[in-house]
Amino acid sequence: MTTRIIGTGSYLPKRVVTNDDLAKIMDTSDEWIRTRTGIRARHLVEEETTTFMCVEAAKRALENAGMQAEDIELIIVGTITADHVTPSAACEIQAAIGADKAVAFDVNAACSGFLFALHTAHAYIQAGIYKNALLLGAETLSKIMDWDDRSTCVLFGDGAGAAVVKADETGLLAFEQGSDGAKGHVLACEGRRNNNPYVSNDKAYDYVHMDGQEVYKFAVSTVPASIMRVLEQAEPCEIDYYVLHQANIRIIQSVAKRLKADEAKFPISLDHCGNISAGSVPILLDEMNRKGMLKRGHKIVMSGFGAGLTWGTALLEW
Ligand code: COA
Repeated sequence: MTTRIIGTGSYLPKRVVTNDDLAKIMDTSDEWIRTRTGIRARHLVEEETTTFMCVEAAKRALENAGMQAEDIELIIVGTITADHVTPSAACEIQAAIGADKAVAFDVNAACSGFLFALHTAHAYIQAGIYKNALLLGAETLSKIMDWDDRSTCVLFGDGAGAAVVKADETGLLAFEQGSDGAKGHVLACEGRRNNNPYVSNDKAYDYVHMDGQEVYKFAVSTVPASIMRVLEQAEPCEIDYYVLHQANIRIIQSVAKRLKADEAKFPISLDHCGNISAGSVPILLDEMNRKGMLKRGHKIVMSGFGAGLTWGTALLEW
């Protein structure tokens, strides 16, 4: 018995912000952003919230799976930008969709969040504790960007992706997760100020700050090695798609090269979405599903990597 994805959904904010739009509010250009990252545009929230986007994505995934919210037993949201410290995004989604009997919680694993949610659900399913789950990866990264730092804020976007999974004969074939907390400082966000009256509030950073070159080096070495380890766990097979976290086209091209895999097998959404952290993988998966690209029996590698540092890779049969 394993865990199979039986439906997907996603939601992108209505407002599209192109590279040229950004060039109107900061010293950047479409040429710089496109050639270094592959990003042309991103969706940014105005009225939408993380929970609102998740609810829309969840409804679409449930419809795609042919499941009712009241039958869902577990909800896990991968996010670093829930609307509140508490309640969690997962609890808010549970209430909004009426998944009354589900257990709901968030996981904080940044760009690996959806993979960590999938592996956690798989562990519950394998243990026989739950039979199905609604998994989400969602971010409102625009609210934690340093909009005075052109080297980070142009890279990211907002959005939500969802998948319904259930216990089945086929599905997840192999996976691994990893963390390297010692390198956490290369991509970090200090978050809210300490409100303790006995603690001084002199932290320098409130928003995302990143050592882009260190993150780049981490991604191009860790991701192909993680994928190779996961493939070694399974029977040899031809991979139909590599659904990677959408951080930068050059990272994806480098991973393809190191794996000696055809770049055509690496679908892309970062051109119109930017980097949506935990949202990237499930949003891309939903785009592929809705285009009819995914056929029963396809072998798909999914890999998320980013802040923490964290990474998670899965091989699954569609
Ligand atoms: N527009 C125009 N110029 C910019 C710019 C922008 N948005 N951002 C930075 N620059 C400038 C820098 O100021 C620097 O100028 P200088 O040479 O005069 O000092 C120059 O461009 C080169 O900057 P650098 O940071 O060395 O660029 P880079 O080639 O390393 O590319 C990234 C920067 C961020 C695109 C690249 O490091 C990267 O993709 N890293 C991975 C980041 C990532 O994916 N993070 C998320 C992972 S989950």
